[in-house]
Amino acid sequence: MTFSEAIPTIESGGVVLGIETSCDETAAAVVVGGREVRSSVVSSQVDLHARYGGVVPEIAGRAHEQHITPVLAEALIEAGVDDGGVDAVAATVGPGLIGSLLVGVSAAKALALVWDVPFVGVNHLEAHFYASFIEEPDLDLPLVVLLVSGGHTMLVSFEDHGRYRLLGSTLDDAAGEAFDKVARYLDLGYPGGPAIDLISMEGDAEAIRFPRPLLADGHDFSFSGLKTAVINHVRANPDASTADVAASFQAAAVEVLVTKARRAAHEIGAKGICLAGGVAANSLLRERTLDVCADDGFAVFLPSRSMCTDNAAMVAAAGWWRLESDGPTNLEAGANPRLKLPFINA
Ligand code: KG4
Ligand code: ZN
Repeated sequence: MTFSEAIPTIESGGVVLGIETSCDETAAAVVVGGREVRSSVVSSQVDLHARYGGVVPEIAGRAHEQHITPVLAEALIEAGVDDGGVDAVAATVGPGLIGSLLVGVSAAKALALVWDVPFVGVNHLEAHFYASFIEEPDLDLPLVVLLVSGGHTMLVSFEDHGRYRLLGSTLDDAAGEAFDKVARYLDLGYPGGPAIDLISMEGDAEAIRFPRPLLADGHDFSFSGLKTAVINHVRANPDASTADVAASFQAAAVEVLVTKARRAAHEIGAKGICLAGGVAANSLLRERTLDVCADDGFAVFLPSRSMCTDNAAMVAAAGWWRLESDGPTNLEAGANPRLKLPFINA
């Protein structure tokens, strides 16, 4: 069965307005039928948080309040949608920063009430899964999804819509968190992932042999020890080339991620491997995943870089599916900063 065969027929026009405000991107998008992106607007707050070296929740919430109306207007105008043109409004309800989530959820509920259309609450992690299917709806299932973002690192067996099995997750830092912390220590700025990706291109990835934590053991990850190893190395070798340190760190992190995704794919008899989340934009991770899938005969799907990082098209796509499967979300339901994915084995 392919993913698109599993999609139920669309009764309505299926025009969903998606809203994403879980962290530091204010985003809105119009997506038809869970895959046809009519508009996708992302307003990044990176510049506001860069001087603090990370996201400041209070600043994020205030910036979302300022940006939400213009971002929504731009998404609707670009999509050519006016009153009566939207069939449902979806918003990320968690996990994320509570003050940020509330801005998007309140806007979504208000619009759903005014337009008299359903509101759908979306899990941000599920939205990252659906980013892949927007661009490639015909992936064969089951798939192994490697979800690597700033807050999460998970290996998931995607068996069907809404049917996910958790294979492994990080025991400490998320992959993106490790990239951000190492970059901060190396004075590469914020956000760290893209900075490490860039400078590593000039470095020697074999210059320093950093540890590959839990490489041979199961499906869980650990990145905290790797981060500490990088810091200890720089302390002991203050003249080490920053590009070499970054490239060697990136090589260690990517080797662990790809080795575990590959092993999991063999173990569950997956048809393919799919990357999701901000770290999936990493050049080396993308290159190595393609190599492994070519060698082992797995289908591979790498969402475009703009679909990997936070956006609202993925929220609209996941919302459309949730609306088809579960119906509208009650307007009484609130945002949940610690919302979990409903795994079938947890
Ligand atoms: O999915 P995302 O946009 O937000 C969360 O839901 O967390 O992921 C953000 C994370 C950050 O840690 C950022 O440094 C990382 O993704 N990231 C990257 C790259 N682009 C973004 N990490 C490594 N290489 C990249 N090119
Ligand atoms: Zn995210």
